[in-house]
Amino acid sequence: MSTRGALRLGILISGRGSNMAAIAQHCRAGRLGAEVALVISDQPAAAGLETARELGLATRAIPWPGAAQRSEFERQAAAALDAAGVELIVLAGFMRILSGPFVTARAGRILNIHPSLLPKFPGLHTHRRALEAGERAHGATVHYVTPELDGGPRLLQSRIAVRPGESEESLSARVQATEHIIYPKVIGWRAEGRLQWREERPWLDGAPLLTPVIEEFDA
Ligand code: GRF
Repeated sequence: MSTRGALRLGILISGRGSNMAAIAQHCRAGRLGAEVALVISDQPAAAGLETARELGLATRAIPWPGAAQRSEFERQAAAALDAAGVELIVLAGFMRILSGPFVTARAGRILNIHPSLLPKFPGLHTHRRALEAGERAHGATVHYVTPELDGGPRLLQSRIAVRPGESEESLSARVQATEHIIYPKVIGWRAEGRLQWREERPWLDGAPLLTPVIEEFDA
């Protein structure tokens, strides 16, 4: 039994919010030693904001003011996260790029999930690109966020076999199902103190994590 208080999460979303919901449900079930302190969306109409409200979570819409005003968005987001006592920022389908200064000031305190086996396929349309490239394996990556887009230290990857003739929709759905397992798992590592950020890199169970942990999925 830990004496540590629950790790306070601030989850940033832009869309459906299925990862946010999965994380919230794990928290609620008491499986993570974490709690969702705030859900922020840059899209006031995001379906995930409604889902968050239905889950009884605190929400805040901060409409995206345009790339030229990104610092204003970040100022408001930082104020809301700080006011909510957020210790770990969780990007979950957040479709904006945070600035270098915002990310650097929070090194080791921002996680992201990306739908590919990074460093393969950073950016958008990852499932289509994996199919076009004839990849036989595909998956998702939980990583720390650094100023390099989708380039921060990788922590945990889900890997699935691409099925012959598989559609983009099928592959996307199967990868997403694994995201809902691996993202809560990494947050649990962090909440338990197993995952730490020291000397500008991740450590897991007392050793530097030089390559990501890989979890194979059959489904
Ligand atoms: C996920 O596929 C995630 O990997 C990517 O955006 C998608 C978000 O889905 N970053 P949801 O909003 O969590 O349903």
